[in-house]
Amino acid sequence: MAKRSKRKGRKQPGAEAPSTSSGVAALDEAPGPAPALTPEAETGTETEAETAPAPAPAPEPETAPEPKSRPAIAPTGGGLSDFYRHLHPRQVRRRSGQLSSTLGLGLATLVCLGLATLSGILLMFYYVPSVERAHGSVQDLIAVVPLGSFWRNLHRWSAHGAVACCLLHLLRTLLWGAFRGPRRRVWLVGVGLLLVTLATSFSGYLLPWDQDSYWTVTVGTALAGYVPGVGAALQEGLLGGATVGQPALTRFFVLHVVALPALGLVLLVIHLFRLRRAGGLARPPKPRATAKAQEDAALVPASPWLTGRELSLALLICIGLCLLSIYIDARLGPAPDLLRPDNPPKAPWFLVGLQELVSYSALWGGFVLPTLLVGLLALGPWLDGRTEADGVCLPARRARLAALAAVLIPGGAAVAAVLWWGDPQQGTAAWLNPATVGLAAVLGVAAATWLWARDRAEVVRSALVGLLALVTVFTVVGWFFRGQDWTLGYHPGPGRPGATHTSPPAAVKQAVETIEPRKRIQTTLPTKTTLPTTPTTPTKPTGPEAPR
Ligand code: HEM
Repeated sequence: MAKRSKRKGRKQPGAEAPSTSSGVAALDEAPGPAPALTPEAETGTETEAETAPAPAPAPEPETAPEPKSRPAIAPTGGGLSDFYRHLHPRQVRRRSGQLSSTLGLGLATLVCLGLATLSGILLMFYYVPSVERAHGSVQDLIAVVPLGSFWRNLHRWSAHGAVACCLLHLLRTLLWGAFRGPRRRVWLVGVGLLLVTLATSFSGYLLPWDQDSYWTVTVGTALAGYVPGVGAALQEGLLGGATVGQPALTRFFVLHVVALPALGLVLLVIHLFRLRRAGGLARPPKPRATAKAQEDAALVPASPWLTGRELSLALLICIGLCLLSIYIDARLGPAPDLLRPDNPPKAPWFLVGLQELVSYSALWGGFVLPTLLVGLLALGPWLDGRTEADGVCLPARRARLAALAAVLIPGGAAVAAVLWWGDPQQGTAAWLNPATVGLAAVLGVAAATWLWARDRAEVVRSALVGLLALVTVFTVVGWFFRGQDWTLGYHPGPGRPGATHTSPPAAVKQAVETIEPRKRIQTTLPTKTTLPTTPTTPTKPTGPEAPR
């Protein structure tokens, strides 16, 4: 309570009352009527917007690790306009509405998630989460339900859009140095949001219960089995047994429609709330003295300057996704053949990099590299040591050079190693493979950055950029360049024309050996004692029009 009254005491004389400073806007914010910019405002301190334009109290220095005093959370009278004020302050800096500040990626993620939720709720009216009826209910939805196909397509494309935009948003905030100082926790919650977004998308893969989804989830959950110590328990906990069946479908359904979205919503509110508390979007600590920079730093009314831009972008994204959903159908494969996976069965596109890594080495590729990446993502802002955000993309020349080296050297080393080894299952020392070569290159670049710049912040960023470059290379290799029996070459991915079905013995071998040879065959595949030994005709795809 004491804290709250102290905050209220910070309210500016002359500020429009009762302007709420709470809420969730992703903004460079400033309460009160448009004031002339104070020198503090011009230097862009983190909480300047809260304190400008009054002379006292003094603004918190940007170097403060976390703002101790918070903006006031003033009660308002309720209604739609108050809801709006919880999302946006009255005034924002002009640059907040410019595309170059955020590339619109946080908003795009939000819009994609919103569309996925809306379409998902509609799909739930028809979908039946049972192994006997799931595939048929999706077929009905496509063929019989008015606009059913459109809503399903929209759900699929917006879900992919959310994952892609979320990853790009992470990259954007990394390159803009927006994760430092007061926004550290925004970033940390963002890492949680990324994991929840990936998990929500993955859990949705199983629901259509078709050939793709069955084998994608079989491979995806097999990857979880490689976590040292707890892998087997994790895999069994996810599946509710040794193989994908009704318990797995029930679990994935509950995770997909209730547990993960609820967790995601809580994290999202915290993410945006903390951003608002940190003073809105990161901005350059010392804007240049050019007329353009001054103009960008000027305060303008949030509505219509920012809201108009946000609504326009949201509308564009909605139109784009609707057009995509009208013209491109989300594939529904045939009912799953539990004995014949496509060759090769692949994890979802955002996990195929992990599958590629595990195919080199379960320990180095499947555990060490991903753990390093997630650990560094989570701790990066604290290891980085700087408290000032850059606010623009890699402003210093040495930062640009370090980032370029972090992409080119580990990325190039990974490509060279993949080409050198070709088939990952060739016998080489377990610790020497494309994953470890790439990792060594990342460490080398980070060490060189330290020797050259003596700047911890650049080392952390270069290590993160390098690890992300590695994951990107392995994802591209796994998705586009791994074909039958995981051989190297250009191959279409699963579900696309050209993917083949294998004979059961080869399929059984393949499904697990693409992940790692010699292990886990019994736990990841359906056990059936009467496997035919000769290749059989590929299962005919069952489209919406095909008889059930
Ligand atoms: C469901 C996923 C997410 C949603 C819906 C979301 C939403 C947003 C929005 C709307 C903004 C303000 C506008 C913008 O910067 O584009 C924002 C800012 C921010 N987000 Fe996220 N975000 C998500 C995931 C992430 C992730 C994965 C990270 C990083 C690990 C992250 C870190 C940040 C940071 C540091 C900011 C402040 C940016 C700045 O000050 O320039 N977010 N987020």
